[in-house]
Amino acid sequence: MKKLISLILAVMLLCASVPAFAEEAPAHVLVVYFSHAGENYNVGVIEEGNTAKMGKIIAEQMSADIFELVPVIPYSNVYDEVLDQATKEQRTNARPEYEGEIENWEQYDTVFIGFPIWWGNIPNIIYTFMDSYDFTGKTVIPFNTHEGSGQAHSQRDVTDYLPAANVLKGLAIRGSKAQNDAEGTGTDVVNWLKNIGLAQ
Ligand SMILES: Cc1cc2nc3c(=O)[nH]c(=O)nc-3n(C[C@H](O)[C@H](O)[C@H](O)COP(=O)(O)O)c2cc1C
Repeated sequence: MKKLISLILAVMLLCASVPAFAEEAPAHVLVVYFSHAGENYNVGVIEEGNTAKMGKIIAEQMSADIFELVPVIPYSNVYDEVLDQATKEQRTNARPEYEGEIENWEQYDTVFIGFPIWWGNIPNIIYTFMDSYDFTGKTVIPFNTHEGSGQAHSQRDVTDYLPAANVLKGLAIRGSKAQNDAEGTGTDVVNWLKNIGLAQ
């Protein structure tokens, strides 16, 4: 009987010391993006922005966390009005605020930054984000959607703005492709990640 009790106790002890499920390691990759739904060029009125769709594919491939930069003051849903808002922001070098903040910034060694090209530039809200955190030692990879400008000069702009980061070659995809062709976008993303050494 004594032996049986000892055995039961030993088994109980063993069970208590081994967690029922191995805890998942926290993600070390973060995908941050700004994207505008509503009326947009070449895609009509959309429920989810083009860059958002691209960003989610990247996050899935990289098992990354996601943070969307949601403007505190929302942009219009009317395309022509957004054009005017963007013009004004660029002219005044504005820093539009976004909702919330990123928890555990230190946990991420790699940060993807996604945006649409606005008037040949990075939208100002991305500068607000780049102003908010310390990028020392981080690997940063820009990605963007567009309707003809490709990356424009955003690769250089991000590299110049974040001198303490190691900025890898970004990827530009047409907004209408990101919106309507998930498979093609996925293929482009995987090939790019392989090229920059982030996927096998
Ligand atoms: C204010 C504004 C300015 C834009 N300027 C450009 C541009 O200079 N070059 C370009 O190729 N596309 C431009 N576009 C098109 C967007 O880059 C494209 O539709 C993008 O996919 C939108 O992404 P989103 O849905 O994530 O916001 C512009 C769109 C807006 C709203």
